Amino acid sequence: MSPIPLDVAALREEYSKRHLRRADLDPDPIVQFGRWLKEAVDAGIKDANAMSLATVNAAGQPCARIVLLKGVDSGGFLFFTNYGSRKAADLENNPRAGVTFFWAELERQVVIEGITRKASREEAEEYFHSRPEGSQLGAWASKQSQIVPSRDWLEEKFSEVTARYAGQEVPLPDFWGGYWLAPEAIEFWKGGPSRIHDRLRYLREAGMWRIDRLSP
Ligand SMILES: Cc1cc2nc3c(=O)[nH]c(=O)nc-3n(C[C@H](O)[C@H](O)[C@H](O)COP(=O)(O)O)c2cc1C
Repeated sequence: MSPIPLDVAALREEYSKRHLRRADLDPDPIVQFGRWLKEAVDAGIKDANAMSLATVNAAGQPCARIVLLKGVDSGGFLFFTNYGSRKAADLENNPRAGVTFFWAELERQVVIEGITRKASREEAEEYFHSRPEGSQLGAWASKQSQIVPSRDWLEEKFSEVTARYAGQEVPLPDFWGGYWLAPEAIEFWKGGPSRIHDRLRYLREAGMWRIDRLSP
């Protein structure tokens, strides 16, 4: 018997058949996003909170990579990373970022554009200490995005920090924390037959959300 009290295969089928209509949407895109994320989780999609984060460097070169969504509220979307990483350097120079979720089994995509700001130290503390100890130590061992000599060198760093913090709580590194992405546009995309997909986009205008349907 499945440990999950849901027929996830049937859920997936139901969602993938349904068109996206304006009347189905919550006026608040964050609430709407929360519904879709929950449906993706309930449908058993692995890493449903994984999102592609696009940033742009000082030369105007975009780069996208996957990070995990770790919080959503009226202020936006929260993720955590190393403040010395390439993405952090990009955001320092240009806080504008784009995020995309893709839930293939539901034929759904969400595209978000907005402006990032650093999360508070308290928010980082809370999340950092909720992670497995190995991940906390890994954060100390990694100078994310820097060139390293070898895998052995990295493992040596990991052993060093493991020895350094043996028997004590691993402190939050000062080079590690979160970013909130405050959305200015959020598009909900649903695959449809013959490429007649549904695209409904919320745009922030004078503090209100306006919703338009876009051509696929
Ligand atoms: C499924 C998945 C989840 C990831 N989650 C994170 C994350 O939450 N934070 C993070 O910094 N990197 C995460 N990564 C690694 C990033 O994709 C990336 O390699 C790293 O952050 C360095 O990116 P940068 O050099 O562009 O800054 C994740 C990768 C994958 C595939």
